[in-house]
Amino acid sequence: MIPRIYIPADSGALALGAEKVAKAIEAELKERGVEAKIVRNGSRGAYFLEPMVEVATAEGRIAYGPVKPSDVKSLFDSGFLKGGHHKRWLGSPDKIPFFAKQTRLTFARCGINDPLSLDAYKSHGGLRGLQNAVAMAPADIVKQVTESGLRGRGGAGFPTGIKWKTVLDTTSEQKYIVCNADEGDSATFADRMIMEGDPFVLIEGMAIAGIATGATKGFVYIRSEYPHAVATMNKAVAIARKAGVLGVNVLGSPNAFDMEIRVGAGAYVCGEETSLLNSLEGKRGVVRAKPPLPAIQGLFGKPTVINNVISLASVPIIMDKGAAFYKDFGMGRSRGTIPIQIAGNVRNGGLFETAFGLTLGEIVDDIGGGTSTGRPVKAVQVGGPLGAYFPRALFDTPFDYEEFAKRDGLIGHAGITVFDDTADMLKQARFAMEFCAIESCGKCTPCRIGSTRGVEVLDKVAAGIEAEKNLALVTDLCNTMKFGSLCALGGFTPYPVMSSITHFPEDFKPAPARVAAE
Ligand SMILES: Cc1cc2nc3c(=O)[nH]c(=O)nc-3n(C[C@H](O)[C@H](O)[C@H](O)COP(=O)(O)O)c2cc1C
Ligand code: SF4
Repeated sequence: MIPRIYIPADSGALALGAEKVAKAIEAELKERGVEAKIVRNGSRGAYFLEPMVEVATAEGRIAYGPVKPSDVKSLFDSGFLKGGHHKRWLGSPDKIPFFAKQTRLTFARCGINDPLSLDAYKSHGGLRGLQNAVAMAPADIVKQVTESGLRGRGGAGFPTGIKWKTVLDTTSEQKYIVCNADEGDSATFADRMIMEGDPFVLIEGMAIAGIATGATKGFVYIRSEYPHAVATMNKAVAIARKAGVLGVNVLGSPNAFDMEIRVGAGAYVCGEETSLLNSLEGKRGVVRAKPPLPAIQGLFGKPTVINNVISLASVPIIMDKGAAFYKDFGMGRSRGTIPIQIAGNVRNGGLFETAFGLTLGEIVDDIGGGTSTGRPVKAVQVGGPLGAYFPRALFDTPFDYEEFAKRDGLIGHAGITVFDDTADMLKQARFAMEFCAIESCGKCTPCRIGSTRGVEVLDKVAAGIEAEKNLALVTDLCNTMKFGSLCALGGFTPYPVMSSITHFPEDFKPAPARVAAE
């Protein structure tokens, strides 16, 4: 049998040198006159081990990583095509602790095979959910999704089934499914990984959403910074169409569903659902007032399901294994699994899919392995640029929507950014206000003006000008933004600001005291 070598073509792995490694392996095979099949898979998500090369042996796959082009000759000398030992040897990927500790439902196939092989997708359980869905009444599909407890993974955590029911119950000659792949939060890459590593699972999830709600057309709005995801999704849609997974008769059923890929406009606020719809319609990405809800009047004024990539990509497993199976994972009202993305100053950065309920401390210390600088962890920002900074004192918080909310935080899209003790939280608070000022769509005053005033006032605090009075002013401003903004960009910017002030007061002391303390 010809040996198989798996080298990720995921853009995270490419950024770490996977293309150069692939070239070096190709050249070495040629030089040694050895025949082997190179498969370009997605990433399994352990970026601290990328580029992670795997070989299929009689005993299963053996992984090596992080592989550098300069390792390639010695890998061949060590007999890596048969799983031989080498300093980069990691053993069976399933036994690497970072993978062994995960519960992979949504990401079950990601990083394992060629993302564009529909046969590989099917042989690993793909299309079973859609197969079940085409045989069901739309209301029963919606019921399954509702009963699974799935909540939107884009940030707000709204129950997916309830959103779908509103669209199902709204009569219209045209309805749409829109997938939000704008993924603008810091530390997040789950959407990108799925689109590059297992695109058919998203296509399958969207087709199920279409059949469940009576929508015949879908759009995936992908941020412009993801050219690899755009290319992979375009190819996957063409393959799915040719194979009859999409089209006028989905999997040979009377249901029609087709979809297109759209490239985003490059603004953080275009990830907000109504702004995204405007952008998709070719307008400026400005937030729309709600009501009407997009589920009733969305894209081009028609009833629209708008869901995050991970929400939609989690549907196939629910429709395959049933609501009860999915609901069995998790805690409280946070059911199923969540792909936590661990980034920032952290030793083991990557994507970790697990049932809800792990504590923040377990995620950062045990899974993430602490900081990459080796210094103590000072703060962890959870939920992107609008998420709160948590100090070590809150590391016992379980990963759960309600538990985070109780502590004035949010899970958001489950991105975690780790900071060591050199972080200056006043600078981080200022950055939050500055980010909001830059990204504000400008529609409402608390956000448009408040964020700029926030930067100015925090600069005064940093300069030691009437620090106490100005800190009180920041708090007041945060309350105005929190309660007076039209959307969560202005409404949630107070979270990183106020959590910095609350948990790290020493960083907000007047300048001379801060300098003396340093
Ligand atoms: C400023 C802002 C940016 C957002 N960015 C994203 C994003 O990049 N991706 C996403 O899925 N949701 C984003 N959201 C949330 C969406 O508005 C919306 O809640 C989500 O697409 C709904 O899908 P879900 O229910 O599947 O989470 C953002 C919200 C705000 C206020
Ligand atoms: S909060 Fe900011 S981004 Fe949201 S509508 Fe108001 S101005 Fe636009």
